Amino acid sequence: MPGPSPILSVGRPLAAGKARVEAVAETDVEWTRLIFAYLACATVWLIVGTLIGSYLSVKFVAPDIDHVSWLSFGRLRPVHTNTVFWGWTSLAMIALALYVVPKTSQRRLYSFPIAWTSLVLMNLAVIVGGALLMIGINNGGQEYREYVWPAMGLFAAGTVLTAYNLIRTIADRGIEEIYISNWYIVAGFLWTIALVTIAYVPFYQGNAISETVIQGYYMHNAVGMWFTPVVLGLTYYFLPKLLNKPIYSYSLGVLAFWTQMVFYTMIGAHHFVFAPTPWWLQTVAIIFSVGMLVTLAAGTGNFLLTMKGSGRTIARSYSLPFILAGVISYFLWSAQGTLEALRSLNPVWHFTNYTVAHSHQTMYGFVVFLVWGGIYGLLPRMTGREPSHLLAGIHFWFALIGYLIYTTALMIGGTLQGLSWIRGQAFIASVTLLVPYWLWRAVGGGMMFLSHLIFAYNLWRMRASRDEAALAARPSEALA
Ligand code: HEM
Ligand code: HEM
Repeated sequence: MPGPSPILSVGRPLAAGKARVEAVAETDVEWTRLIFAYLACATVWLIVGTLIGSYLSVKFVAPDIDHVSWLSFGRLRPVHTNTVFWGWTSLAMIALALYVVPKTSQRRLYSFPIAWTSLVLMNLAVIVGGALLMIGINNGGQEYREYVWPAMGLFAAGTVLTAYNLIRTIADRGIEEIYISNWYIVAGFLWTIALVTIAYVPFYQGNAISETVIQGYYMHNAVGMWFTPVVLGLTYYFLPKLLNKPIYSYSLGVLAFWTQMVFYTMIGAHHFVFAPTPWWLQTVAIIFSVGMLVTLAAGTGNFLLTMKGSGRTIARSYSLPFILAGVISYFLWSAQGTLEALRSLNPVWHFTNYTVAHSHQTMYGFVVFLVWGGIYGLLPRMTGREPSHLLAGIHFWFALIGYLIYTTALMIGGTLQGLSWIRGQAFIASVTLLVPYWLWRAVGGGMMFLSHLIFAYNLWRMRASRDEAALAARPSEALA
């Protein structure tokens, strides 16, 4: 009789046991409260936004599920996108930035009242903007700028105040150099303030062509010059910190930064390839979309080389797997974006569900995974409370498998949809063709949503102790 297989042996654990983090090291209770408040609000918006996203994905397979005007697809879709953009991802990134900037500047945050005011303004923007969208009041059909200007104005005011707060903290820094994280974070804020202004000032958008050019510029820079630089800046802090070793190359970080600043800002017009916008503008956008491969190689190469040789540390951590998945997604799905921009491939994918796959691969697989990695890396070290290791693992796998099912289904379905149109088949043929892929998207989306509920519970488990006396007065006491 052969003995038990060494691979399937009963005693072998399914996953590497996770290491516990150190006890409380932060004693600044005010700081911990502020950051937790941002993260708690962000998580509420994650649940609200993705509950709506899940409902929208059900509507694709059960279109008659309701006939209520304010629950119609056209109204709920922008509520989903704007809630996850401005409510969840932005607030979560700002929470982490409010930690990373003072930490790397070796200074306390410049102003707590300003930070609380920004939080109130940004929450108000999402509440007012979302409620108005649901009752049918919007800024026209332009994506990610559907909030009417007073609502977006609240968000912009919060962004300006946060930028001021962070820049003042960096200006008062206790060390000479400005750490690379802060380059990315400040750039993200400055670009976004300019971008929202350009997108909302109406007088040069009087006709459809100029409005389209501005829309391409705004839409791509919203994802590329807000979420991308801020989350990359945060990763330049969290990755070396959690691995306990320096970043592989500072110079590669600087190369990735400047190419991002130059190339990314030129590529907005690739959203409207073959549109009646100037041909040269589209060509410039396509060339710089290819140029982005340099940025991607420098950025992801730097992160992966930093992780090289740390496989065991990553396996034993519950935050680093999120960062690894986020970094890989960044490379894969942005490079896929380069392909989408080419004149040979764009006709197959443009207008199809393939773009929706790309949106979630990048915004979710890249940005949101890195945000989660940062939150799991930071909060236990601030509050001294860990999530359940098992539940953090379930969150990771449900989110990862869910988003892979969602996006793989739409990549295949979207390609078939485009080919069906190119063959000149009746439009309805492409609709019936997509039904099974939409069903898989709803299944994947359901798993993603479940993972968000688990994350919300984990966040609650990581909250600061209510009993301030229980917090140590000095780090030495906490670590004793
Ligand atoms: C090298 C980098 C990238 C390139 C070249 C690229 C390229 C593209 C292209 C060509 C489209 C338009 C597809 C079409 O409508 O035909 C697109 C759409 C989109 N991309 Fe990217 N992408 C890149 C990275 C990213 C990143 C990092 C994010 C998110 C952080 C992102 C988010 C989006 C979103 C949300 C859309 C959909 C916009 C819409 O609603 O129409 N992309 N991308
Ligand atoms: C449970 C998770 C989620 C589900 C089920 C979901 C579902 C959906 C659905 C059904 C749409 C409409 C697609 C269409 O018009 O054909 C959509 C659009 C979109 N969602 Fe989500 N979503 C989820 C999470 C997220 C998150 C967390 C983000 C960003 C952080 C996000 C960003 C977007 C974007 C950018 C679009 C516009 C796509 C485009 O026009 O290309 N979604 N989502």
